[in-house]
Amino acid sequence: MDNKVAAVTMRNITKRFGPVLANDRVWLDIYRGEILALLGENGSGKTTLMNMLSGIYFPDEGEIAIDGKPVVIRSPRDAFELGIGMIHQHFKLVDVLSAAENIVLGLPGKLDLKAAAQKIRAICDAYGFEVDPEQKIYDMSVSQKQTVEIVKVLYRGADILILDEPTAVLTPQETDKLFAVLRNMRDDGKAVVIITHKMHEVEALSDRVAILRHGQFIGDMPTKNTNAQEMTNMMVGHAVTLNIDRPEPEDPRPRIEVKDLTVRDVEGTVKLDSVSFTAYTGEILGIAGISGCGQKELLEAIAGLQPVEAGSISYINDDGSREELLGKDPLAIKDMGVALSFVPEDRLGMGLVGNMDLGKNMMLRSYRSGKGVFINRRAPYKLAREMVDFLEIATPSVETPVRRLSGGNVQKVLVGREISNAPTVLLTAYATRGLDINSSYLIYDTINTQKMRGVAVLYVGEDLDVLLELADRILVLCGGKVSGIVPGRGAKKRDVGLMMTKLGGNAHEQ
Ligand SMILES: Nc1ncnc2c1ncn2[C@@H]1O[C@H](COP(=O)(O)OP(=O)(O)O)[C@@H](O)[C@H]1O
Ligand SMILES: [Mg+2]
Repeated sequence: MDNKVAAVTMRNITKRFGPVLANDRVWLDIYRGEILALLGENGSGKTTLMNMLSGIYFPDEGEIAIDGKPVVIRSPRDAFELGIGMIHQHFKLVDVLSAAENIVLGLPGKLDLKAAAQKIRAICDAYGFEVDPEQKIYDMSVSQKQTVEIVKVLYRGADILILDEPTAVLTPQETDKLFAVLRNMRDDGKAVVIITHKMHEVEALSDRVAILRHGQFIGDMPTKNTNAQEMTNMMVGHAVTLNIDRPEPEDPRPRIEVKDLTVRDVEGTVKLDSVSFTAYTGEILGIAGISGCGQKELLEAIAGLQPVEAGSISYINDDGSREELLGKDPLAIKDMGVALSFVPEDRLGMGLVGNMDLGKNMMLRSYRSGKGVFINRRAPYKLAREMVDFLEIATPSVETPVRRLSGGNVQKVLVGREISNAPTVLLTAYATRGLDINSSYLIYDTINTQKMRGVAVLYVGEDLDVLLELADRILVLCGGKVSGIVPGRGAKKRDVGLMMTKLGGNAHEQ
């Protein structure tokens, strides 16, 4: 590789956003015929660095060369002309247009959809994609939309491809398919850069890794010469423990019993279809399923935030007496000890007050618990300080307004607040959405702490590997139905993945 000219050479690249030094004199080479994994914690500057290749940002300092020739990239069009294409985290497709229309959108020249469709099919055949050129975007799954984005950059002749956290929204099967395509591209001599927080993906896919920390280039090496532990340590800057504990549940007792729960959305579509299961104290029940298969509705129904068509949800007290949750007010359910933490794609729209400091935001939550913390003003600040220490929240102090923190840190405050406040039942969804590996492990620890305190945890997450390590049992949803419930210990990823896409397995409790 040493005597090969790099497809992309970045030298001394610096980028500032006001006071934030997003990239600090970064050197990076990208080669053809290679898949490079770009790694780093949240906010370490990965997206910013790649956005300077795709023409979204312009560096304050430094040089970029393509195939050894100095270039100036001032717009996405410049990038395309140099053969650089980037698949962003948020897709930029027009919903009402077809795949082919989106793919040719903005290209100069006369629009010939028939010729376009032909070229799209040729690209699909060459790399193993499945795209129907006529299909409208609004009719597509997330994975299909992503495929359209990839075909779009290939259509424009890209041979340097950058994918920013492409697997965050995919099922394991879809991820496997994507990886097969990326390997084909590499073997075809293209340069591929992938940003991901998932270590097993880095190990399975990449030829080389490059690591950023606080905007600086820390190092690069062939993937086969390193491992998850070393990469994480380099990202974080100190040694990190990478084990998710799974203590045996102690004295599990039924806490929530869901029976024949059926939920329809406002359009009348069935979102949950006769769902039954029991959640136990001191247990983590993982909920697996592709996005939109009813996880959200399930947690919201338990929390009293979702109209229910049929069925029952019983809360079972320590003395065995039962209370029906259906029909109760959400605040009444919260006061019974049921906490809901749902991290939406837009993390700031989730119940933090930006102008308030950390301590006051803690108070906001604990106030409702009715334990009189309002009288003791020190308690929320103590809680905030504990949270800052334990979750390694980067903030000057607990008196800092929340809006001054970065996205990942805001999320840690929020998830930390909800999780550590769960008295008896914790309903948590996408707690680590978009968080880096170190932060994610701290969140898993927090959830385990709650489990060991006897909290019944319902955990919805996108990362199947984590679910398989963390959950005591896994309930698999498929199209609103329970596809099966399997023990977490010994469960196989393939099997759970299959149950997610097709009703199968044994739909009984184990
Ligand atoms: N458009 C922007 N305006 C201000 N700050 C930004 C902008 N984009 C990124 N940043 C900041 O730059 C740093 C690097 O961000 P980013 O490149 O998105 O990191 P990563 O992709 O590694 O998570 C972060 O501190 C982030 O808050
Ligand atoms: Mg990013």
